[in-house]
Amino acid sequence: MTTMKTGATAVLNGTAATIMGATGRPLREFAVPARLNGVGPARIIALCNQKGGVGKTTTSINLGASLAHYGRKVLAIDFDPQGALSAGLGIFTHDVPNIYDLLLGTVKDAHEAIQTTSVEGLDIIPANIDLSAAEVHLVNEVAREQVLARVLRQVVDEYDVILIDCQPSLGILTVNALTAAHGVLIPLECEFFALRGVALLVETIDKVKDRLNPALVLDGILPTMYDSRTLHSREVLERAVERFGDQVFDTVISRTVKFPDASVAASPILQFAPEHAASAAYLQFARELIARGAVA
Ligand SMILES: Nc1ncnc2c1ncn2[C@@H]1O[C@H](COP(=O)(O)OP(=O)(O)O)[C@@H](O)[C@H]1O
Ligand SMILES: [Mg+2]
Repeated sequence: MTTMKTGATAVLNGTAATIMGATGRPLREFAVPARLNGVGPARIIALCNQKGGVGKTTTSINLGASLAHYGRKVLAIDFDPQGALSAGLGIFTHDVPNIYDLLLGTVKDAHEAIQTTSVEGLDIIPANIDLSAAEVHLVNEVAREQVLARVLRQVVDEYDVILIDCQPSLGILTVNALTAAHGVLIPLECEFFALRGVALLVETIDKVKDRLNPALVLDGILPTMYDSRTLHSREVLERAVERFGDQVFDTVISRTVKFPDASVAASPILQFAPEHAASAAYLQFARELIARGAVA
């Protein structure tokens, strides 16, 4: 048995060698995608998990940057009052038009809230702590679950993909994200108890699908913070594959301090440590999503 790279093992099988991925399936190669002719309409993807600290924001930033690297035009929506997506991309959020203004209608034109980032092709609509008042404010709104969907309709033709970085809850903001989205990505931390909350999340997705957004699909589950040296990391991944099969992506994001370091530097990993395996992992994830048809 030869260790190839993080999580990959070569299993010699007679004359042919099959490379197994961390998911226990043969490792697939995802080709570098062709450039697109023209832009949009965007596929809208919500990154959801009601557990905090599982890699939603990290994935929004780094998947966004990786898709932009392959020439996709990406809009990232900060939909968490903590504003970690905005901070992670070095975006100033004080006294600028933000997603809360758009939800409330105090700013009518969504374009006014869009900011460019240091990554070419990756734009953002920021958020700040004001967004925490949205729960209360939206309760009395007509069609309160569809407010974000209406906002995004203004810009959907100008992007290839819109990523919504959800807050860690299944409240009205997350329901708005699921109502606006075509697909859901669930980052799953390879830690004890990680799978516990996923059943509830899948139930919520099914409810939104039933009542508000029949076309919604689960695009897949992205294992994050994987450590091939720990038994429980491998066990969580095994359980996830048992339960969700091919909906678990081949791409697995390993645990590395480069991610918190990149957050401090307010850069995507692709800018902060382009040669690091973590950069390659998110580039592969972008290619896998394109290969699976979740992104054009
Ligand atoms: N693969 C990883 N390895 C190590 N640390 C990570 C990884 N992904 C995210 N982190 C760190 O874990 C913390 C939580 O991640 P974050 O993306 O903010 O989670 P969420 O948005 O789900 O709350 C952050 O400090 C982030 O830098
Ligand atoms: Mg977050």
